[in-house]
Amino acid sequence: MEDLSPRPGDLEPIETASRDEIAALQLDRLRWSLAHAYENSAFYRARFDAHGVHPSDLRSLDDLARFPFTTKTDLRDTYPFGMFAVPREKLARIHGSSGTTGKPTVVGYTKRDIDMWADLMARSIRASGGRAGDLVHVAYGYGLFTGGLGAHYGAERLGCTVVPISGGMTERQVTLMADFKPRIIMVTPSYMLSILDEFRRQGIDPRETSLAVGIFGAEPWTNAMRGEIEAAFDMHAVDIYGLSEIMGPGVANECVETKDGLHIWEDHFYPEIIDPETGRVLPDGALGELVFTTLTKEGLPMVRYRTRDLTRLLPGTARTMRRMEKVTGRSDDMIILRGVNVFPTQIEEQILKCRGLAPHFQIELMREGRMDGMVVHVEATPTAAVPEMRAASAKELAHHIKSVIGISTRIDVTEPGGVARSEGKAKRVVDNRPKD
Ligand code: DLL
Repeated sequence: MEDLSPRPGDLEPIETASRDEIAALQLDRLRWSLAHAYENSAFYRARFDAHGVHPSDLRSLDDLARFPFTTKTDLRDTYPFGMFAVPREKLARIHGSSGTTGKPTVVGYTKRDIDMWADLMARSIRASGGRAGDLVHVAYGYGLFTGGLGAHYGAERLGCTVVPISGGMTERQVTLMADFKPRIIMVTPSYMLSILDEFRRQGIDPRETSLAVGIFGAEPWTNAMRGEIEAAFDMHAVDIYGLSEIMGPGVANECVETKDGLHIWEDHFYPEIIDPETGRVLPDGALGELVFTTLTKEGLPMVRYRTRDLTRLLPGTARTMRRMEKVTGRSDDMIILRGVNVFPTQIEEQILKCRGLAPHFQIELMREGRMDGMVVHVEATPTAAVPEMRAASAKELAHHIKSVIGISTRIDVTEPGGVARSEGKAKRVVDNRPKD
């Protein structure tokens, strides 16, 4: 794989600023952001007043802990435009996130917000090893989802040539990649696996493609999956994180030269880790729920937004800004099976240890008598699809899950293609337990 370390002059000054400089900038911007939210959003004014806090109470970064949290429920309660801090006419764009229940949560951007987002996405693509002039294949979905347009504007800002193919029509994705020869692909990791299968189906060796870098996010994926994708394509696989409520993709991004967690673009987003039970702020290094406060956003400032994503904050390495560890899962995705907490990513890690299994999987939960049961549906690789080998793979996976995670599960090893394919975010858990 190519050495893609940044060259002198590649980085913005803030990317190598000292911690003191970063903290001073954050305090300045945080003051502005809290005042902006309080003065221009009826929602925040009422929330701060009810909590007995005022933007002028913020004298140091630690004072942020005195301010109330914001949650997805707040966005739902004020649907569609009730939290915005500018009149609707001042918004340049609306995006949304499809929730599991009916209406999306709606977010809005001023022109300046879109500009800042494009800058941060350009920074993210550059951190991933992208350069002006690269051809970028964007297979994140275009639409209300922030993935497609977020990647698109960032790639253009960096000076790349963008192919806005969006998700789906996998056969055509592969044809266009073979013909256009992109250096970079931006897509969910689960859809990248569908694309990988399609390359093989068309008889194209994925290691011979033009791809040098994949920028994968929008869903949890493991370092084991990184290894799988990097080996299959002979390319760098880099993690990108974001959420629509805070901006979209590009809130944090790994640096290709270290691939050791995601640098949070702390000049625009202030991170905290809290204990999800008590709401108390935890020190750097501790595992907990990630909380963000936006520092520069005009349309929809977010104060202490609870992401539900579980991770920890780590010191900077390739950049001075702090890193967040790869997200293992959302507190909402945690399965509690007979008292044991399980994340789909833990199952993914075990699947990737089994040579006869492809990393396409779905977890089904059901009620069996008075107990909860779990079945892992996972595909056999084409070369291990005969019944005896499938039975052996099932046994091997059940053994790994039992010995590493500590739960007994049933394993259903299907034919290749037997598990529903993702064209965007994979649906890893199907819960068929009766709602009581
Ligand atoms: O998924 C934004 C995005 C698009 C990020 C493209 C990266 C690439 P939402 O639809 O609002 O926004 O979903 C946000 O997805 O809270 C996490 O739970 C999850 N997520 C996003 N990136 C990652 C990642 C976009 N790299 C929610 N690792 C977040 C793990 C991720 N989970």
